[in-house]
Amino acid sequence: MAELTEISGKVRQYMKEHEEEFLGQFRHLHQHPELSFQEHETTAYIKKKLEGWGIEILDIGLETGVVGLLKGGKEGPCIALRADIDALPVLEESTSEYPSQNKGVMHACGHDTHMASLLGAAQILAEFRDELNGSVKFLFQPAEEINLGAKKMMELNCLENPKVDAIFGMHNSPEIPVGTVAVKNGPLMAAVDRIIFTIKGHGGHGGIPQRNVDPIVAAAAIIQATQTVVSRNVSPIDSAVISICNVKAGEGTTNNVTPDEVKMYGTVRTYRKEVQAMIDRRLHEITESISTAYGCEGTLEYLYELAVTDNNPILYDIAHAAVCDTGAEPVDPIPSTGGEDFSVFTSQSDVPGFFYWLGVRNPDKDCVYSWHSPHFKADEPAIAIGAGTYAMSVFEAVDALAKK
Ligand code: NI
Repeated sequence: MAELTEISGKVRQYMKEHEEEFLGQFRHLHQHPELSFQEHETTAYIKKKLEGWGIEILDIGLETGVVGLLKGGKEGPCIALRADIDALPVLEESTSEYPSQNKGVMHACGHDTHMASLLGAAQILAEFRDELNGSVKFLFQPAEEINLGAKKMMELNCLENPKVDAIFGMHNSPEIPVGTVAVKNGPLMAAVDRIIFTIKGHGGHGGIPQRNVDPIVAAAAIIQATQTVVSRNVSPIDSAVISICNVKAGEGTTNNVTPDEVKMYGTVRTYRKEVQAMIDRRLHEITESISTAYGCEGTLEYLYELAVTDNNPILYDIAHAAVCDTGAEPVDPIPSTGGEDFSVFTSQSDVPGFFYWLGVRNPDKDCVYSWHSPHFKADEPAIAIGAGTYAMSVFEAVDALAKK
C-alpha cells in the first residue's frame, strides 16, 4: 500500500474534481425521500451506483437498504462504513433549491447527506482499490428513525462474511460549522430507554373523594419524585435525563370523575451503564413505594432501547487522522443526549466502532435549523468532506490495524 500521505493527497484531489458529481447524487436523494422501511427507490438508486463502480452487492436478505463489498488490491482488514437512508413524515419548508418531490416526506434529519457522503466514498475507494490492503463493506441502513434498521441488519449478520474488523458511521450536525467534523473520544450520543408507568387506584365521583383511591395524586407525587433522581442520585460529574412526556388519565374533558388509572410515558438518557442501572432501580422504588403510600398499585416498565454510541478509543487516532487527511478541521464536541441506532452494531457485536458528526452549519445559506425541522438544510460542501472522511477512515484503519 502506498504511503498514507500520498493516498490522502490523491483523495483530496479526487474530492475536488468530483464534487459536482457528489452533489448531483445528494440533490437527487434530497428530492426523493422515503420513509423507514419504504426506501425502495433509494435502495435501487444506491445499488445501481455501486454496481456502476464495480462494487459487489451482497444479498443478506434486506428488503430495503444495501450491503456492498469492495475488495482491495491485497488481503487485509475489513472496514464497514454505515449510512442511514430513511426520511421523515415532514412537509419540507426549507430554502433548498432542490426540495423534496415526495410531498409530506423530507430528509429533515439529513440522512441524504450521509448517503451522498457514503456514495462519494464508495466512488473514491473504488477508484483507489488497488492501493487498499483490505476490503470495505458499505452498509446503507434502512429505518434509523424508528430504531429498527440496525437491529434488522444485525439479525441478518451484516458484520459477518466477511467479518468486519471496525465500523465507522456519521451523522450531520447543524450545530457545528461546515468544514469541521466532530471527533469525540468516548461516549458521543446517549443510551435511550423507554419508561412506562401504570398507577392503579379506584375511581369514582370527583366530588366525593373519600370513597375513591385517586391515582392522579399518586402520579403527581411520582412525577415530582422522579425529578430528584438526576439532582440527588446521579453524581454531578455524570449526566442523565429523565423526562415524563405523556400523561394519560380520565376521559375527554370530564371534570368530576376520578379515573381508575393513570398511564405515563417517558424517556431516560444516560452515558454509563452504572448510572442507567441506578436510574432503573430508583424509578422502580419511587413508582412502587409512592403508589403504595397513596393506596394505589404502581408498576414501571423500564425498556432498554438503544445503547450509548460510545466511540472506541482504539479508533480515535484513526478517525482524527482521517478528518485531517481530507483538509477538514476536527473539533471536540459536547456529547448529545440524542440517541443513534449505530450503537446497535457495536453493542451487539465485538466490533469497535466510531461515529462522527459532519458539520453542515452555514448561517449565510440558511443552514442553521435543527434536525427534524421542516426548515432543516445542510450546506453542500459537507458532502465532499463526508465522502473523504469515510474513505480515509478505511485507509487509516487498514494501515493501523495491520500494524497491530
Ligand atoms: Ni438522523
